[in-house]
Amino acid sequence: MTPAQSAARRIKVSPSMMCADFLSLKTELDLLAERGVDYLHIDIMDGHYVPNFTLGPDFCRRLAGYSAIPLDIHLMVENPDPFIPVFAGFPGATVAIHPEAAYHPIRSLELIRACGARPGVALDPSTPVEVLRWLLPHLELVCVMTVNPGYAGQALVPGGLAKIGEVARLVESEGLAIEIEVDGNVSWENIPRMIEAGAQTLVAGTSSLYDPAGDLAGNLERLYRLIGRS
Ligand code: DX5
Ligand code: ZN
Repeated sequence: MTPAQSAARRIKVSPSMMCADFLSLKTELDLLAERGVDYLHIDIMDGHYVPNFTLGPDFCRRLAGYSAIPLDIHLMVENPDPFIPVFAGFPGATVAIHPEAAYHPIRSLELIRACGARPGVALDPSTPVEVLRWLLPHLELVCVMTVNPGYAGQALVPGGLAKIGEVARLVESEGLAIEIEVDGNVSWENIPRMIEAGAQTLVAGTSSLYDPAGDLAGNLERLYRLIGRS
């Protein structure tokens, strides 16, 4: 995809906050806002659906209180419904559940919308795309996970790129304007291939925006050049 094509299809950036430097978060948020990132990606883990704990409601409240960048909340939570009202009230928020972890995914998506947020789903790498068929009318974003949920810094799972393409074709065939996000090992090498496959929003973590080989400002410029936004 040429820079002109990706510029035409403005690729969105959602920095993964679990990868941020918490000790200089204010400075980082100012830079991200100044440079126009689209969302802040918030990984919520419950220690059950995934074997890890990360961020929570208080962190989201502090972020939303300081920054106007909309929250892109990724709920890796078993039976998410009781927690949806906690997260879906942030202005302009998107809340994605894992259909694998919800008893009644359509009910959960409708609850997210009723609480004022954009409903989405995040698919575990092992989950077939077919799962989306009856969910598509109820959602605005699909997050294709290209690593097993639960940790930053993992390598792309085989089949991840092909799955992005399958989701893009399904969404296109249904004629729906559903945002396709990719999450997991969104690296300098993988980004062009993920966009080529159909990704529109990039969750940027340790293998690009928070790549320790560079600083945040330099990595963001590099990312923007790569996606035709600089
Ligand atoms: C993993 C999370 C990701 C993670 C990505 O379960 O959903 O958002 O932060 O980190 P990297 O980019 O390092 O794979
Ligand atoms: Zn995530």
